Amino acid sequence: MRNFLTTADCSRDELTRLIESALRFKNGSEKAKALAGKSVALVFFNPSLRTRASMQVGIYELGGNPVVLEPGGSSWTLEHRDGVVMDGDKTEHVAEFVRVLARYCAAIGMRTFAALKNWEEERTDPVLNAFAKYSTAPIINLESAMHHPCQALADMMTIREKLGAAPKRVVLTWAWHPKPLPMAVPNSFALAAAQMGHEVVIAHPRGYELDDELMKTVREQSAGAGGSVEVTNDIDKAFDGAHVIYAKSWGARQFYGRAEREIEERAQYRVRWIVDEAKMARTVSQKGQAIFMHCLPVRRNVIVTDGVIDSPASAVIDEAENRLHVHKAIMTKVLSAEY
Ligand code: CP
Repeated sequence: MRNFLTTADCSRDELTRLIESALRFKNGSEKAKALAGKSVALVFFNPSLRTRASMQVGIYELGGNPVVLEPGGSSWTLEHRDGVVMDGDKTEHVAEFVRVLARYCAAIGMRTFAALKNWEEERTDPVLNAFAKYSTAPIINLESAMHHPCQALADMMTIREKLGAAPKRVVLTWAWHPKPLPMAVPNSFALAAAQMGHEVVIAHPRGYELDDELMKTVREQSAGAGGSVEVTNDIDKAFDGAHVIYAKSWGARQFYGRAEREIEERAQYRVRWIVDEAKMARTVSQKGQAIFMHCLPVRRNVIVTDGVIDSPASAVIDEAENRLHVHKAIMTKVLSAEY
């Protein structure tokens, strides 16, 4: 049994095969019902539109039954730490919750965002790893503190679908947002783009560096795949010649757990760090304009202007659709004997 916790769990060939499987699900040539007669648990500690809906639909289309649980809502509050005296507000331990679910379900998908309180703790993905530790069924990461691999795979599928399989100049740009957000999406996008051999450019203001260990892995994966990685604080130059603009906001590690201080710090970037028509015009080359991507939900005229997200360059709806096809490919693979 293998989990799907980060794309780093997979080789480039495995990621390519997953994307090709997702493309077959999308064009209707893949009709396998890997979940016939089976149930998959979907455990959501946090809100979701795309992930939850596309997993539920995907499980149905694979012949299975989704069991959706929201700890603290439709199921008991959960403790994940080992050795804790549970005399507080948590009713059940992951040790029992996960092992019981694994007796009912063929796989368990789970979402648990970073709490944005303690960087050193959260960067280790403690809740996700507690699920993986106790489960006898494969765990699929539907966004944890550090990774959103299903999103990243849908992103790689979208780039391939729109621009072909050859490596591209792929720009991950930080954008201003009124509050600090988790790093799972930028982490996973950078990692997957590096694994696929793209020319990865990461643009952010000083102080918004991604995790050092994550970046080490990104550089290693990129080198192994024949790609490149550049980090810049110059948003205009980053857009020059880009094939893909991927916008996302995230929090600064130096102010982690101090949201009010971070909000003061980021205020200076509000006007400059937005994806707008002028920046997208810098991407125009003989091959046309870059595509615009965002995982959604997105704040219009904060992260990206209406003019960009409503333009023909915007791939966000196709990107969201691809979550469905990628989820079907991942679930089919995770439950196959070869994975
Ligand atoms: N992109 C994404 O994961 O969307 P949801 O938060 O709506 O699931």
